Amino acid sequence: MPTITFTNEKKEIQVPEGANLRREAIRAGVQLYPGIHQYLNCHGLSSCGSCRVLITKGIENASPKGILESARLGVSLAYIGNEKTMRLACQTRVKGDISVATCPAINIYGENFFS
Ligand code: FES
Repeated sequence: MPTITFTNEKKEIQVPEGANLRREAIRAGVQLYPGIHQYLNCHGLSSCGSCRVLITKGIENASPKGILESARLGVSLAYIGNEKTMRLACQTRVKGDISVATCPAINIYGENFFS
């Protein structure tokens, strides 16, 4: 069974292979949504973008991005510089061990933002 490590929350959970990251995070009591998005989100339809996370380890163990997810992330400022590791939790299936940082901040001063 794959292990998901939520680095901000310092929590580890084991999930069945192919489990949905959003569903498992909610089940484990991990807060995926910043601020008001806790109540106002698309409930996993890939349209609000508020469930974005960074896969800090094991990105190869996450399902590949689909067209809808890529399109949604592509209009987010937070995506810039994090194209390889940022995912929508609601669209990510867990195939092996991963580490996840929830609610990543927008780093407009980061070295990759203007490059
Ligand atoms: S819950 Fe809205 S995009 Fe994932």
